[in-house]
Amino acid sequence: MSPRLLPSILLVISTVRAFQYTELARYIDSHQEEYVELLRDWVAIESDSSNILKRPELHRMMEMAAQKLRQMGGTVELVDIGEQELPGGQTLALPKVVTGQFGSDPNKHTVCVYGHVDVQPAKLEDGWATEPYNLTEINGNLYGRGASDNKAPVLAWIHAVEAYQALSMELPVNVKFVIEGMEETGSNGLDAMILAQRDSFFSDVDYIIISDCGWLSRRPALTYGTRGNCYFFAEVEGPKQDLHSGVYGGTVIEPMTDLIGILDTLISPNGKILVPGIREAVAPLSDEEWRMYQDIQFDMENYKNKIGVTQLMYTNKVDLLAHMWRYPTVSIHGIEGAFSDPGTKTVIPAKVTAKFSIRQVPDMDPAMVKKQVTDYLHSVFAKRKSPNKLKVTMVIGAKPWLADTQHPLYEAGKAAVKRVFDTDPDLIREGGTIPIARTFQDVTGKSIIMMPIGGFDDGLHSQNEKMSRYNYIEGTKLFIAYLNEVSQIQKTSV
Ligand SMILES: *[C@@H]1O[C@H](CO)[C@@H](O)[C@H](O)[C@H]1NC(C)=O
Ligand SMILES: [Zn+2]
Repeated sequence: MSPRLLPSILLVISTVRAFQYTELARYIDSHQEEYVELLRDWVAIESDSSNILKRPELHRMMEMAAQKLRQMGGTVELVDIGEQELPGGQTLALPKVVTGQFGSDPNKHTVCVYGHVDVQPAKLEDGWATEPYNLTEINGNLYGRGASDNKAPVLAWIHAVEAYQALSMELPVNVKFVIEGMEETGSNGLDAMILAQRDSFFSDVDYIIISDCGWLSRRPALTYGTRGNCYFFAEVEGPKQDLHSGVYGGTVIEPMTDLIGILDTLISPNGKILVPGIREAVAPLSDEEWRMYQDIQFDMENYKNKIGVTQLMYTNKVDLLAHMWRYPTVSIHGIEGAFSDPGTKTVIPAKVTAKFSIRQVPDMDPAMVKKQVTDYLHSVFAKRKSPNKLKVTMVIGAKPWLADTQHPLYEAGKAAVKRVFDTDPDLIREGGTIPIARTFQDVTGKSIIMMPIGGFDDGLHSQNEKMSRYNYIEGTKLFIAYLNEVSQIQKTSV
């Protein structure tokens, strides 16, 4: 081929692609009222997975999601994932997991989009300005429980597929869906379902896409890591019953004093974790990471005001972001058995149990952390020479998740963001834990990308949750562009 021909061929290819995108984007713009209406229908269903009285609503929500995919001609299944056990010993059917499939061309990549349609509880009395289950638009924001977490992102993916269909354009990749209804209460039953379908539903999946998080600022973002979490109980037990401080105070070594003493050895006032071995296990911050953090759009003042504090742990952006995302931290959450009612009570509790957790980052290992924390607390406790008994247990051990930002999946994401928003995305992490990412990675061995479309101020889990119309509609275009970009990835780089 003549070298002079090459540029013109490339030009033709890129014009075809640009043309296709423009058509699709125009279709999305002209159908946005329908998309908002469907979001209204979905938000109207109180699919609160934590409230067993709302379970019929949750079942209805799953059926509604399945029905939508069926109407679009997808191969849809409602997968039974069994029952959950209630504290009273009864059982309750878990909401079925919806799986869907559009296209099965072996010459194309197959992506699997994960999302959830259950929500956190919400009541008007909690301080909502609008009815939480009545989607209400104010100044371009769509207020409603579950709007951002995670109903609009799931619908945006569905509408992205639907737009290709409506314009009789071939889907550039095969698209699968996994939509669950128990995310907000720990994805009960989903791990087992993924494991059970590893060699069936997931066998031809190349990539997994999760859009269950948000941007950090007004700039679009791709998320490449989440922290894990190790959750501990430390129980100190002494006298055989609670005692009166006037009668017995001064004669016994109090469990609470022991417990506070050992808790105080976990972390220094300036945030340094004191458990030996933990800081040593953390992957060092690379120069490249430092530069990336430097470029991220993040307003420290805004952040400070949002949480209502006068001072943060760190005064510069890079340190703050690094400690939010890629360093471990200890948080002390509460003490069971401690007096916490209003007023005064002169009790000496006989047994107190502290609850604390340590956020996990590469290259920490929860099994190792369990040993480090248990050994350390026992050693500091031993120095107190207390007759009381200490018991340390780890009740959750969730690993962190980290992706390679140079992976073709992320390069495709950057290109899609560029096309839709005409800017480069911030590459960010989540300080919180999204255990399902880790499960997908460990069980299926596939690459995962987190592609959020929610805004930084969407108020997930809190009052006045919202999704902006802009993010919802432009996010749908992002997914359209992304499917096209993923189809360009060389098959060999799977
Ligand atoms: C939702 O809110 C709108 C506006 O306040 C109101 O007109 C409508 O009746 C409400 N719908 C329901 C189902 O409560
Ligand atoms: Zn969510």
